[in-house]
Amino acid sequence: MQSVRPEFTFGAFSCWIIKPNMPNTILIGAQWGDEGKGKIIDVLTDRADIVVRMQGGNNAGHTVLVGKKKYVLHLIPSGSLRPAKKCVIGNGVVVDPIHLVDEIEGLKKLGVKFKNNLFISETAHLVFPYHRLLDECRENSKGKNRIGTTKRGIGPAYGDKAARMGIRMIDLMDADGFSELLKQRIKTNNELLKALGAKGLSSKKVAADYFAAARKLKPFVTDTVRLLHEACQNQANILFEGAQGTFLDIDHGSYPYVTSSSTTAGGACTGTGVSPNRIDKVIGVMKAYTTRVGEGPMPTEDESLSEHFHEMGREFGATTGRARRCGWLDTVLTRHASMVNGINEIAVTNLDGLDTLPVIKVCVGYRLVSKKIDYVPNAMGSLAKCKPIYREFPGWLSPTEKCRKWSELPLNARRYLKAIAMLSESRIQIISVGPARAQTIEL
Ligand code: IMP
Repeated sequence: MQSVRPEFTFGAFSCWIIKPNMPNTILIGAQWGDEGKGKIIDVLTDRADIVVRMQGGNNAGHTVLVGKKKYVLHLIPSGSLRPAKKCVIGNGVVVDPIHLVDEIEGLKKLGVKFKNNLFISETAHLVFPYHRLLDECRENSKGKNRIGTTKRGIGPAYGDKAARMGIRMIDLMDADGFSELLKQRIKTNNELLKALGAKGLSSKKVAADYFAAARKLKPFVTDTVRLLHEACQNQANILFEGAQGTFLDIDHGSYPYVTSSSTTAGGACTGTGVSPNRIDKVIGVMKAYTTRVGEGPMPTEDESLSEHFHEMGREFGATTGRARRCGWLDTVLTRHASMVNGINEIAVTNLDGLDTLPVIKVCVGYRLVSKKIDYVPNAMGSLAKCKPIYREFPGWLSPTEKCRKWSELPLNARRYLKAIAMLSESRIQIISVGPARAQTIEL
């Protein structure tokens, strides 16, 4: 049931709290990213008041199909596609201001309105051209040991944040202070870049570009921690939009083949300033199989399955266009994801991708040399040696894209879903059978 709660104001902004009934929910990826979080966020946003990004940057690529229009969002929360919803870019995100302005302009051209509905944290750290160049130089110098980053400068930007050499959105809003800070950083980074064989940058040019972006972003920049706190006090429903996935987490992922932020549920609190006791639910999104982009071990990787998906035109990265590595569902991973995130409910996506396969395998454990194990080893050398132990399920060999209810799914699809929920030690609540909003089954 809908109800209207009192309006609350924050600074110059006022917000209507329109729809209750959705507890404060963190949505994270339970695999290596690209689980289809954008679509699930878009569906759930209908019940939320505010959608918040808490980590990552424009390395993320969330694809959402609304009617016939396809939107690919990188920094802007997927909630922006529902008018009247508030979107927040939290303090834990690293923001490339030039990219963000381009993304806002691009979305405006597609009819998305940004008026009193987008808030950017003044304490979010900024990504600079030297971060992107360093990302590229470091990747190139690693040769076959490269991480396979998106080359968006994400690692170097978080590196500067941790080293207390970052520049934040609030610094960009103060022209004189910013010029001075930037001059110092460019001097230091030009030395690094030259040592790596790259050309240095002109601080004048970078400053001019960033000031131009700052003028466009200024109306959106605010203290989002206080804004979210006030929203919580007014019983607003917050949806936390995770980017990347559990196994790309800087602490819990397959290190060093990870991104540089906290992609697990804990990152939602540090990345927004909303306290843990305000969180009601964690939803883990997982594909009905496994994919990964970039380097690093992936026990269930399967060349013929990759070919199968690529021939169908599926599994190409939304940010870089890279072909994703594909494999069978690995429930050793999804069980681990349930554990570190405290997943209450699972959303299974891309079920329709398996419609034409006569036999579907699921990894239930690993064989590591002569031992059987049921956990994810921390040493990458060991994870790389893990051979999956599979259970086989008969396929359903019929299209699921038009199914709208659990009872409409083929019997073998229901059996598969029940088994993977049990093996992942969680409960399935949402099933996605295609990219459109309507292609969603809620239990
Ligand atoms: P970075 O985040 O660009 O530093 O890349 C580090 C690793 O995370 C690489 O393996 C990337 O392919 C991966 N990665 C980063 N963002 C995403 C994403 O949104 N989806 C899937 N993989 C990602």
